[in-house]
Amino acid sequence: MVRLIRDSWAKAEPYLPEVTQFFYGMLFTLAPATRDFFPINMEVQRNRMVRALVHVVQMVDQPDDLVPFLRQLGRDHRKFGVIPKHYEAIGTALLAAMKTQLGPDWTPDVERAWAEAFTIIARQMQEAAASDTNPPNWSGLVADHRRLSWDLAMVRVEPEAEIPFFAGQYLSVEVPQRPRLWRYLSPANAPRPDGSLEFHVRAVDGGWVSRAIVSHTQKGDVWRIGPPVGRLSIDRESGRDVLMVAGGTGIAPMQSLLDGLAQWGENPKVRLFYGGRTRDDLYALEGLRMMASCNPWLTITPVVESGPAPAGGEQGMLADVVTKFGAWPGCDVLVSGSPAMIRATVSRMLVAGTALDQIRYDPFTID
Ligand SMILES: Cc1cc2nc3c(=O)[nH]c(=O)nc-3n(C[C@H](O)[C@H](O)[C@H](O)COP(=O)(O)OP(=O)(O)OC[C@H]3O[C@@H](n4cnc5c(N)ncnc54)[C@H](O)[C@@H]3O)c2cc1C
Ligand code: HEM
Repeated sequence: MVRLIRDSWAKAEPYLPEVTQFFYGMLFTLAPATRDFFPINMEVQRNRMVRALVHVVQMVDQPDDLVPFLRQLGRDHRKFGVIPKHYEAIGTALLAAMKTQLGPDWTPDVERAWAEAFTIIARQMQEAAASDTNPPNWSGLVADHRRLSWDLAMVRVEPEAEIPFFAGQYLSVEVPQRPRLWRYLSPANAPRPDGSLEFHVRAVDGGWVSRAIVSHTQKGDVWRIGPPVGRLSIDRESGRDVLMVAGGTGIAPMQSLLDGLAQWGENPKVRLFYGGRTRDDLYALEGLRMMASCNPWLTITPVVESGPAPAGGEQGMLADVVTKFGAWPGCDVLVSGSPAMIRATVSRMLVAGTALDQIRYDPFTID
């Protein structure tokens, strides 16, 4: 099944713009209400959904990785207002777009493979969505917005009702300056009695949403917030030490986990490597050092790519520095940061001898 899907996609992929155009045309004809889920300007992130769909369909033979991801994705899709009949429309639109593009190469066997894979995937997502009893999304009031540097802001949001998240999870937000462009953010705090969430957002080059949040978010803005998802967690009872590797705003879920741990007297030993391009990028370092000074189970090692390393720190790429210390046997390893940083760190650690099942990170978006 997967071979037929991959081979047929290889033939269609060079024509992604055409496939995408046909896909949306068909989708909005079959289910006009779904137009409101997508960005107003369809040129923005135009190919994203089709590439995401195909990427997931091609993973249908890897259920161990795919099923937990699909269950989260299905719950997460409730935030758009997706209902079961929309899945049918998406499936029909995808297959019709492929058929039109492939012509005679769209054989009955190829069609069956795509249809079966899509059905398996859609069923997982729908089952997870149906079993979620939380609201599909929450609104939250921006109570504070502070620029920490030219490209970084801290935003504190007070949700209308408590959002049931665990330390280390992330959730997606939609901001009024960029309607219908949802982006994932990680709260930097563990759940608080007042339910508030603190986000750290870095403006990325050419970024639609992050630049708007850093430059234009104001107190009083109302954000929409999707369901909490993600699998970064610490098992305090496991007896295993923890290695955290965080780059840039990837420090946020680690801060959330540490905030959660700090509520207990005894914890596993935690060693945190916190990396940035220069010392100025390590915006959370002072706070983390203060936390380490009253929590002996925590050790912080700052890492900078260039310029002088802070006291007690290291210079180099996170992946190089962490693997200098060996394979970290017996440790749970949590990695968080940009997609490139996660890829580099995980692959270097595997080469250094760390076992794959020791390492945990949250999947970044398909791009
Ligand atoms: C699980 C998870 C948790 C996240 N937590 C946070 C967080 O706490 N704080 C935070 O600031 N961001 C976080 N992100 C990243 C965030 O979701 C957005 O992807 C990022 O803000 C860029 O969105 P944008 O609309 O500005 O850029 P887009 O308009 O989507 O993209 C513009 C350009 O930037 C590139 N780009 C996209 N994302 C990144 C990135 N992370 N690093 C470098 N280049 C990128 C794109 O490839 C593209 O070239 C998280 C992402 C995931 C998946
Ligand atoms: C098999 C079914 C589906 C799969 C595998 C799937 C997968 C995905 C993925 C991976 C993303 C990107 C999420 C992110 O990281 O930002 C996404 C976004 C999105 N999906 Fe789906 N999806 C499915 C069904 C649907 C349905 C039925 C709808 C409703 C019409 C829908 C609407 C959207 C929208 C509006 C977005 C965000 C907008 C965008 O990125 O263009 N999806 N989907």
